[in-house]
Amino acid sequence: MNSENLSKMTLSQEDFGLVQSMLSQRVGISLAAGKEYLVVNRLSPLVDAFDFDSLHGLIQSLNRGNNTQLWDEVVDVLAVHETSFFRDEAPFEQIEKKILPGICRESRATGRDIKIWSAGASTGQEAYSIAILLSEIAPELTSRVQIIGSDVSSKVLQTASEGVYRKFEVSRGVNSERLERFFEATQGAWRVKPNVRKMVQWEKFSLAGSWPSLPKFDLILLRNVMVYFKPETRAGLLNRLTPLLKDSGRLVVGSAESLLAYDHRFKAISSHNATHYILPQQTNLDSMN
Ligand SMILES: C[S@@+](CC[C@H](N)C(=O)[O-])C[C@H]1O[C@@H](n2cnc3c(N)ncnc32)[C@H](O)[C@@H]1O
Repeated sequence: MNSENLSKMTLSQEDFGLVQSMLSQRVGISLAAGKEYLVVNRLSPLVDAFDFDSLHGLIQSLNRGNNTQLWDEVVDVLAVHETSFFRDEAPFEQIEKKILPGICRESRATGRDIKIWSAGASTGQEAYSIAILLSEIAPELTSRVQIIGSDVSSKVLQTASEGVYRKFEVSRGVNSERLERFFEATQGAWRVKPNVRKMVQWEKFSLAGSWPSLPKFDLILLRNVMVYFKPETRAGLLNRLTPLLKDSGRLVVGSAESLLAYDHRFKAISSHNATHYILPQQTNLDSMN
């Protein structure tokens, strides 16, 4: 970087503080002190792309709050979107062997639709993994399945709705049998087949903002999202999410996240080297599964 560019891309402590508070207030993401380099690296390309004369100018514009396209890009580059098919294996084994069989049994008995929410869905691999499992376990029920994948970033949702993944992305988690059965080759990449794609719908909204009208869910996946939020944002999110769980509903969080430290309403159910959560009134129901 030459000296002109250096000063153009300089980040003052005041501007860093502004980025921290905007991210925290608008999308709940907590950006730790010491992450100045990340803000400079990720936002610098946007200075030229959006025709600002400096990083300071870009941050001032964000703070005025009237450039939604710029804000979308900033959230997209600052959020962590890491994901993969059947991520971490053990939770998906628990979902396949314990959670989904119970949900399918209930749906068969009651004739009710199966509703699942992948909250913080990133590029879609999590929601498609669930759709694949349901196609394997209960092909006769797939027309009754509604999976919602939501994220705050438009870019990741665009990839999710296209359902096209590069070789290395499918190689992380998809075995050859599933690749053959649920994906089709397209220009050097792999596209999720339409019968799986149609089980998922994509919604853009912030978990820390206002939500569209949502149904009650059999299963909510809130994995590797809360870890980027402050404790009070996590607690608020769980308060809003709890009424959206059906009586028999289940909540799965990330493998490194535990609810027990800060939310005592949930009961942890462990099996298959993984843990998911239910509300206490379900304890009896759980013993039937
Ligand atoms: C690390 S990814 C996790 C993806 C997937 N759940 C998994 O575990 O593989 C976190 C996702 O949460 C999204 N996210 C972060 N803050 C959010 C918010 N306030 N509302 C909705 N999505 C958010 C990010 O854009 C990102 O795509």
